[in-house]
Amino acid sequence: MARISVFGIGYVGVVAAACLAKDGHEVIAVDIDPGKVDAINQGRAPIVEKGLDAIIATTVASGKLRATLDINEAIANTEVSFVCVGTPSAPDGSVGLTYVTKACEAIGVAIAAKGTFHSVVVRSTIVPGSMDTVCIPALEAASGLVAGKDFGVGYYPEFLRESTAIEDYYDPGLIVFGAIDERTDAVLHELNAGLPCPCHSVPLATAEMIKYTSNSWRAVKVTFANEIGNIAKACGVDGQQVMKILCSDLKVNISPYFMRPGFAFGGSCLPKDVRALRHLASEKHVESALLDAVLEANEAQIDRAETMVSQMGGQSIGMVGISFKTGTDDLRESPLANLASRLIAKGYDLKIYDPFVHQAYAEGMTGAGRGNDTEIDLKNRLVGDLGDLMDNSDVILVGNHYAEAMPVLDQSSDKIPMVDLLRIRPDIRSSGSYQGICW
Ligand SMILES: NC(=O)c1ccc[n+]([C@@H]2O[C@H](COP(=O)([O-])OP(=O)(O)OC[C@H]3O[C@@H](n4cnc5c(N)ncnc54)[C@H](O)[C@@H]3O)[C@@H](O)[C@H]2O)c1
Repeated sequence: MARISVFGIGYVGVVAAACLAKDGHEVIAVDIDPGKVDAINQGRAPIVEKGLDAIIATTVASGKLRATLDINEAIANTEVSFVCVGTPSAPDGSVGLTYVTKACEAIGVAIAAKGTFHSVVVRSTIVPGSMDTVCIPALEAASGLVAGKDFGVGYYPEFLRESTAIEDYYDPGLIVFGAIDERTDAVLHELNAGLPCPCHSVPLATAEMIKYTSNSWRAVKVTFANEIGNIAKACGVDGQQVMKILCSDLKVNISPYFMRPGFAFGGSCLPKDVRALRHLASEKHVESALLDAVLEANEAQIDRAETMVSQMGGQSIGMVGISFKTGTDDLRESPLANLASRLIAKGYDLKIYDPFVHQAYAEGMTGAGRGNDTEIDLKNRLVGDLGDLMDNSDVILVGNHYAEAMPVLDQSSDKIPMVDLLRIRPDIRSSGSYQGICW
């Protein structure tokens, strides 16, 4: 069992403190608000949360949980601290790090006075890079010690939902943390060992980013459901029934499918159907801000790829894939075809390797039905041999996955300038003349 101090007796801190104490750990909760400290020490929950009062009453009575205003005493009597203070929005919308910084400074002074190894784990929601640029420097400056060597550091975001916080604590949807030292990593693994959920141990900034991604995704889901509900109502349809049935598709709709960062969507259905639903909403005088933004954001992803190719500086571009996705010869509203025509219009010499489209053209099955609305002189640009494309291009632009192309592209990624919209290898990251669109 561990001895843990929890800084911040708010919604996150008090639930963590109570549940850790219930699990048998020795917990000291710390706050700057004497009212919250008194409430805990009297065995009362300082917030409304189902089941919390009973856990606090029991754990305070058994001596597993107590609260204090005294930071030095809390640090001296524990080996790991969780920082759960608030991070309210600053007036410009940026994350407010004042409380986190102050807490880290106070903890830094206390761990220097303590003189033995202590792990500091931030649980507050902070934007990627905050641990490295704000929290660790604050701890080091205040303690005069070196993070990762003299004291441990971790970031361990909280995902609980108020009103079901205790249930979520024992049955979380996701556990992720980062630690810069083995001792802190081991403590975080041990504390989560009994939970029915795998632990993801990742770099600090990845854990920070996952927290924001999670909350933004939750926000998008609410807004999307509301927008669909509004349009459905205007059509005399029950939007709640629509969303319930939509969510019953765990294969494509509620699944990792379509959730991998990469290039724009396209094809014969998604763009036209989003356009039509927006149009319908506008006819019914219903706002569709999210659907509007979807099309704008999709266009921006094509702009982004175009800019990346321009920044590579070559003249001849070898494109791998032109159809709207891997495994089809369908060019209808292909974002790769859109990108190709933009590059051609800019004067680039563009050649394309796409075995399925190449075959379709070789067999004379071309034309508007395939979606090539004559904007690109495709026939003369399609090449059948990937080697030729690699040998005669200043820049390779990877759009679709072809099994035979992957080893060739992988071997060339550090030799020929490459813009990758697909990700030719799961672990490859942008570096030098290899640039992935979002990795
Ligand atoms: N509330 C949620 O549902 C939830 C869920 C997940 C993550 N988060 C995140 O967790 C963090 C905490 O959120 P919350 O809702 O618990 O905040 P809160 O405002 O309810 O609690 C913060 C507590 O920290 C105390 N505090 C401030 N400075 C302190 C210091 N130097 N030392 C000790 N205590 C100090 C405050 O007095 C307060 O009691 C935020 O970053 C938030 O975004 C919140």
